[in-house]
Amino acid sequence: MATQLSLNFDVPGAQSDATLLRDPAFEQNKQDAIHRWVPWIAGFSAGFVGDALQHYLPDPGRRDIHVLDPFAGVGTTLVESLRRGYNVTGIELNPFAALAARVKCSAFTRDPGKLLSAIVSFERQARERTDPIDKAFERGDDVFQCTPAPKSRPPAAFRSRTPFFSPAVEQKVLHCLDLINEVADPHIRELMSLALGSILVQVSNYSYEPSLGSRAAAGKTNVLNADVVSLLSARLYMMYHDVIVYRDEMMQWTPLPSSRVIEGDARLMLQTVEEDSIDIVITSPPYLNNYHYVRNTRPHLFWLNFVSKPSDLKRLERSNFGKYWQTVRGAEPSKLQFNFPYLKQIIDEIAVKNPQKHVYGGKGWANYAIEYFNDCYTLCQNFYRTLRKGALAIIVLGNSIIQGVNVPTDLLFGHIGELCHLKLDEIHILRKKRVGNSIINSSIRNGGSYEISLYEAAVILRKD
Ligand SMILES: C[S@@+](CC[C@H](N)C(=O)[O-])C[C@H]1O[C@@H](n2cnc3c(N)ncnc32)[C@H](O)[C@@H]1O
Repeated sequence: MATQLSLNFDVPGAQSDATLLRDPAFEQNKQDAIHRWVPWIAGFSAGFVGDALQHYLPDPGRRDIHVLDPFAGVGTTLVESLRRGYNVTGIELNPFAALAARVKCSAFTRDPGKLLSAIVSFERQARERTDPIDKAFERGDDVFQCTPAPKSRPPAAFRSRTPFFSPAVEQKVLHCLDLINEVADPHIRELMSLALGSILVQVSNYSYEPSLGSRAAAGKTNVLNADVVSLLSARLYMMYHDVIVYRDEMMQWTPLPSSRVIEGDARLMLQTVEEDSIDIVITSPPYLNNYHYVRNTRPHLFWLNFVSKPSDLKRLERSNFGKYWQTVRGAEPSKLQFNFPYLKQIIDEIAVKNPQKHVYGGKGWANYAIEYFNDCYTLCQNFYRTLRKGALAIIVLGNSIIQGVNVPTDLLFGHIGELCHLKLDEIHILRKKRVGNSIINSSIRNGGSYEISLYEAAVILRKD
C-alpha cells in the first residue's frame, strides 16, 4: 500500500484542477507543424505552452518579452514563444534534444529553395547507393558485399544486446550518413541529421515502451529490412513544407525575435542567463521517476556522433538534473542542503523501506530523492536571480511513488521556491493518472491496490 504523510504547510490555491491550461502531453504535437519533426517522450504539447503564455504574461502584446526554458527538450516552449514574437533562451543537456531545439528555433530563417534542392539531391543519391542493398537482400546475398560500400562506420563503442540494426538497414543508414556529411551547408546538414535521428529507432530492432528496449522483448518482430530512404525523404519533405509555413508565420514580426539554445546544464544557468532578465519561465524538469534520457537516446548520441565512448555518456548522466538512481544509489548518504522538515520526513520514510535490498531498497532511493530536491533548490535559487521582478516561473512536474511512499513533488517544489524567496501563486493539476514508468517499486507496478493517483501539475512561482 502506498502511504501518504499529511501536509503541514499551506499552499495557496493548492492543487486546483486546471481549466485554463491544456494537457501538457506531447501526443498532439505529432500532428503540429514543426513539433512533429521529432518525437520526444517527455515533450510538452504546443497547446499547453500557448495557453500558459496567453494566460500568464501580463501584457502578451509586448515585443520585448524574454522566455526561458532551462529544460528545453526538443524546443516546444521555444518554438511556441517565437511564433508569438517573443525572444527565447533554451538550455538543454542532451545534445540530440538540443540539436532538435536549435534546428527548430532557426528553421524559419532557412531558404526553402536551397533546402528543397538539397533534399531532392539527397533522395536521388541515396536511392542510387541503397538500391543494390535491397536487391541483395531480396536475393538473400550478403549485403556487406554491395558496392559502393559506405565510408561511414558504425560507432565503435555503441553496444546493444540485440544488434541495433539488421545488416541491410545498417548499410543504408551508413550511406545516408555519408550523404549528410557531404552536404556543404552546415544548417542543412544539421536539419538532415535531425531527420535521420528522428527515424533511427523506427528502423531499428528497438522501440520505446516507453523506455528503449528491444522489439523482441516487447513482443514485436525484428526489422530485417526497411525503406530508410523513403522514410527519411518523407520526413525531410515534411520539414521543408513546415519551413515554408513557419517562415510565412514569422514574417509578421519585425524585427524577428531572437533565439538562443545553449547545450549545457541548467543548474549553471547563471553563467549564461543575465540576472533580472527573464519575463516568464515555462519548463518541465526531469520528474522524480528516474526516466533515463541519456540511456534512451544512446542510439542518437552515438550514431549522430555526439558521443564516442562510454565516459561521454557518464558525463551526461552525472550532469542530469536530479542525477540518476543508478549513479547515486551506492554513494554515501547525501544530505538535504536546506531546512525542510516535511521533505526530510518523507525521505526518512523512504530510507527505511526494504533494508534487505540494501542500496536497491529505500536507502538508495532516498539518496536519489535527496539529490533531486537539492537540484530543485539550486534551480529555484537560479529562478530568483534570473527572473525580473513580478515575473513568473511555470514548472510542470509529476508526483511520484517511491518504495510505496507518495512524494508530492509539485507541493514540495512549490515550498522549495518559497524557501528561495519566490512566492507560490498556485498549483494546477493538469492531468491525472499519468502513465509511464514513474512508479518505482510501488503497489501499482506490483499489481496491488493503491490509494494514490499519479498526476501532473503546473507549479506557478512569482518573484515579487
Ligand atoms: C521533461 S523533459 C522537457 C521536455 C520539453 N518540455 C519539451 O517539450 O521537449 C526534461 C528535459 O531536461 C533535460 N535535462 C536533464 N538534465 C538537465 C540539465 N542538468 N540541464 C538542462 N537540461 C537537462 C532532459 O534531457 C530532457 O530533455
